[in-house]
Formats: sequence, C-alpha cells, structure tokens
Amino acid sequence: MAAYTTETITPKYHEALVGWQKKNFPELEFLQKNWSKYYPTQTPYQLFAKIGKLNSETINFGRLAGQPRFEHAGEMVGNMFYTARDIIRAQASTELGSIQQHRLTLEEAPTDQMKISILRIMAEELRHGYQMFWVFDHDASWRKPGHPDVAKETMDELLAMELGNHVLDAFNIPFHNFLDNVVFATVIDLVGKYQLEMQKVFSYAPMARSMSPMLSEEGYHIGSGRGFLKELAIGATTDRGSYSTEDIQRALNAWVPRGLEMFGNERGGETAVAFGFKDRNNGTAQGEYFNEVREVLELVNVEVARTKIKELSAPDARSLVREVQDTGETIKEISPKDLLFVPDRKFFRRRGMEEIVYMPYDVYGNLISDNGKPVNAHGYLAYLATVLPDYFMHTGEFAKYREGLLAHEAPEPGQSYGW
Ligand SMILES: [Fe+2]
Ligand SMILES: [Fe+2]
Repeated sequence: MAAYTTETITPKYHEALVGWQKKNFPELEFLQKNWSKYYPTQTPYQLFAKIGKLNSETINFGRLAGQPRFEHAGEMVGNMFYTARDIIRAQASTELGSIQQHRLTLEEAPTDQMKISILRIMAEELRHGYQMFWVFDHDASWRKPGHPDVAKETMDELLAMELGNHVLDAFNIPFHNFLDNVVFATVIDLVGKYQLEMQKVFSYAPMARSMSPMLSEEGYHIGSGRGFLKELAIGATTDRGSYSTEDIQRALNAWVPRGLEMFGNERGGETAVAFGFKDRNNGTAQGEYFNEVREVLELVNVEVARTKIKELSAPDARSLVREVQDTGETIKEISPKDLLFVPDRKFFRRRGMEEIVYMPYDVYGNLISDNGKPVNAHGYLAYLATVLPDYFMHTGEFAKYREGLLAHEAPEPGQSYGW
C-alpha cells in the first residue's frame, strides 16, 4: 500500500500556482520532459498534494494531549487558529521563496548533475507549496462567519510574495553564485527537515498528514546539498574548484545564523508545544540542528583531509581534523584554513536571545573588544566584512542588519550607554 494518497486543489488555485510556476520557474517543463532520463527509478513529477498517515489519532503534546486531532481548522479557537495559519503560511512562503532564490544562479551550476538536482529540488519545493495550499484550500472551515476568508487571503498573499517580503529572513536573501544554492540546500533545507519532523505531531490533522511525504523529499535536498558541498570543498583543496575554502566558509558564516534564527527565539516555542503543533521547543530543536551542521562539516573535512593525504583512513582523518581545529595548528599538511567549521551560535545574530542579538561576537563566539569594552557598531561592521561574502554585505537583508545594529547601539536620548 502506498504511503500516501493524492489530491488536487480547486481549479482556481491550481491554475494560480501553475501561473506562478510559469513566471517563477519556467525550467520545470525541461525537467519534466527529461525526468525519466535523469531519474529513471523515480515516479514522474506531478503537481499534487500527498496525504500521508498520522502516527497517532490523538494529540500527542501540550494542553490537549490525548484528545482527538482537529480535522477542521474552524474547531481551533482563538490564538490557536491564527497560530496554525501563521505556521502554514510561513512554511508555504519558504517553499515558494526558495524557488525564486535557486533560480537566480541555476545557470552557474558547475556541472550538469548539479543543475538537474537543483531543478528537482525546485520542483519538489513547488509541490510543497502546493501541499500547503491544499491545507488551506480543502478545508472550508478556514472561513468563519464574521471573519475574513483566511485561506483565500493567505493564498493570495503568498502568490504575490517576492524576495524581500517573504516571512523568514533566510528567504529574502538573493543568491549570488552557485555556492549559495549548495550551502542553502545543506544548511537551510536542514532547518526544514527539523520543522517537518517536529510538525508530524501537529494537532490539526491535515497539516500532520502533509509532513511525512514532504520529509522524504526533503531528504533528497539535504543529501544533494551535502554531496555538492563535499565536491566543492574537495575542489577547493585541489585548486581545481570554482570556489576557495574561504569562499565556502564565508557563505556558511552568512547562512548558518539565518538557519539558527529560523527556529525562533531560543527561549521560546512553548506556545507551539502547548497547542500541540510541535513536539520540541525552539531551543532544543536549534541545539540539535547546530550539532548536526557541525557533524556535516566534519564529514566534509574528513574527505578534504583524505584528498590531501591519500593513505589516511576515515577514523584517522577524523582525529586529525579535530586536532587541527582544536589546536589551530598545521599538522601533517592540514592547516585550519583547509577546513570548514560552523560559526558560533552567538555570531552575527539579528534575532533570538536579547543578550546575543546585535552583539559583536566573532565566528568563534568571543566578544570582540577594544580596551576591555565590546567594539562599537562600526568596529563590528568592519569585522563582518572580513568574514562574510562581499556580495552579501550589499544585500537588502544586510542593510536591515546594519540598521538594526546602529539602532541597538544608539543611546536613548539623555542616557549614557554601556558598550
Ligand atoms: Fe520543501
Ligand atoms: Fe527543501
């Protein structure tokens, strides 16, 4: 028995999404024509919703644990209804936004295989967007007497979103080169995996049923990202690659903080758990995510070390990599500069816990100071220019960061300030 059944949405929104695709992702037609050539064992791509199974009929977490899940949005009252809407809206925005981002640099793919993989990722993200539209569209109870038509309002808003007004910061950053496609699939799609995984427990059943089919596709996105990151990192060590190790590190420094922020404030997330929407709070999920990114980069480093020293076994390479990174010294031809690392959780943060937001932490998590005091905004901006990609410093997202940093530093009128 198939793990899911399929459904389509009403013609009006089906056509609207096809129209969106023609404008934002016309390359889909090429992928569809060539699908069986590149993916002979995969069922041909189709734009529909996949309805998976619930792992329990009842709500697993929060105040309503033990009660049956909600089949209709209208059964959720007050804040719960709108919080569910916000989560589904944010999810849909990430799916559509990432297609707009990937497309910008698709043609720069160093290999054909990389390009085709990104096309498949984009096609699957479109299906995920369609899936979230299904959640809104199939359930008439998103329309409540006396309320605006929440489903229609949200779907129309989503169809009009462009890079710059998506819900989450990570989806407003235009890609500049193919490194962004690869780092994004590695680091940002991984956040997606965590969110989907957590939302399997969603107390609103149609959302919960959507998670497993999306998760299995997400596995391909993350796997592609990791494989290509490894390829690019090895290319960098052999000097045959399109990007240097430093280029890759700078891209990680730009994207990882945005990935961490996608979890929301690390002290929050209790409401989503109380409503039975997620099974973990933000801080727990973010911590697990951070450790996984670290492991991913370590595996890349192991391959880099084995490329440089042919006879090295994988376990020996792992110890060597750790030793080089812990001591900061060059050992057996491997220098810290040959290796990638995950920037500290406190580095370059715009959202999250108050004590780290806009504070001048370096990539290792040390507060940058001058004469015993944390450096001022200009000092930190000068530091950021040395660790972020040049192009990134000119994006609208960075302009917002700069503005926030300067405002954070400015003293209240008549007040002296400490840093
Ligand atoms: Fe997705
Ligand atoms: Fe994805």
